[in-house]
Amino acid sequence: MAHRWINNLTRADATPKSVYLNRRQILAGTVGLGAIGLAGSASANTLEPNTLEEITTYNNFYEFGTGKNDPAQNAHKLVTSPWSIKVDGLVDNPGEYALGDLLDGLTVEDRIYRFRCVEAWSMVIPWNGIELADILNKVGVQSRAKYVAFETVVQPENMIGVQRRVLDFPYVEGLRLDEAMHPLTIMATGIYDEPIYNQNGAPIRLVVPWKYGFKSIKSIVRITLQEDEPPTSWNKANPREYGFYSNVNPNVDHPRWSQATERRIGGGLFAPRIDTLMFNGYENEVAGLYAGQDLSVDI
Ligand code: MTE
Repeated sequence: MAHRWINNLTRADATPKSVYLNRRQILAGTVGLGAIGLAGSASANTLEPNTLEEITTYNNFYEFGTGKNDPAQNAHKLVTSPWSIKVDGLVDNPGEYALGDLLDGLTVEDRIYRFRCVEAWSMVIPWNGIELADILNKVGVQSRAKYVAFETVVQPENMIGVQRRVLDFPYVEGLRLDEAMHPLTIMATGIYDEPIYNQNGAPIRLVVPWKYGFKSIKSIVRITLQEDEPPTSWNKANPREYGFYSNVNPNVDHPRWSQATERRIGGGLFAPRIDTLMFNGYENEVAGLYAGQDLSVDI
């Protein structure tokens, strides 16, 4: 699969992982005086990627437990090969696709995106992935389709959180078709040019950078094109707190906490919170999708 690069989201802007790690180690040694200098610069919502270590040890993947380190501890049990994805509903070419067949001929892109969890922590993650639009165009979306529904694998014997029924599994999510076709929406298969780790949603997961992280469903085994808005896991669990859209919005607070600021993972103990950006910094690209909608109602 070839690589394609897109403006201001590419690896070219990023510090290489090894250099970045070295610099962080140096910074880590300069607490005290250094921390004062850092405090000023860290208050901006920048695009400096988190380390692979941070990205793979602080996770939400409730199928493997609810603690942030539980997925890193438990997700080795996930069986990711062979992997197939069922594509059904309003498509020209429905079927059970082997993952390789579904992605064959499509382009893997490098995208450095902000990732903002609804819990008000954030990271910057250098993903490798395929535009969802490329996959949907390959299977042929029919004109009656208005939404895309996604489903995560269930392997009860391998997933300790499924045994404990902490959510109603399978984890399900959905997007409006125009959101799904937007070029920022990708299906990630890698991070830092390595195959995506199990705890991050191997072998393939959704990434929608302008929405709260729970929309970015992991380890996908089914994609359904349909006319009606699909149910989504967190909305089913708590409809008052989690809407279908869940666009990152610093002006609309969660019922139990502010969404105006966020804690960047890896910033250290004394790092100030940073401002959360409208649509997580992707307002220019995606605001048009919601023209005419009241985003304090359509949460
Ligand atoms: N997908 C599944 N199947 N199960 C989950 O529990 N958690 C979501 C989302 N996708 C989740 C999921 C939430 S709340 C977040 S913030 C992100 O995954 C976390 O992604 P990360 O662990 O790769 O940072």
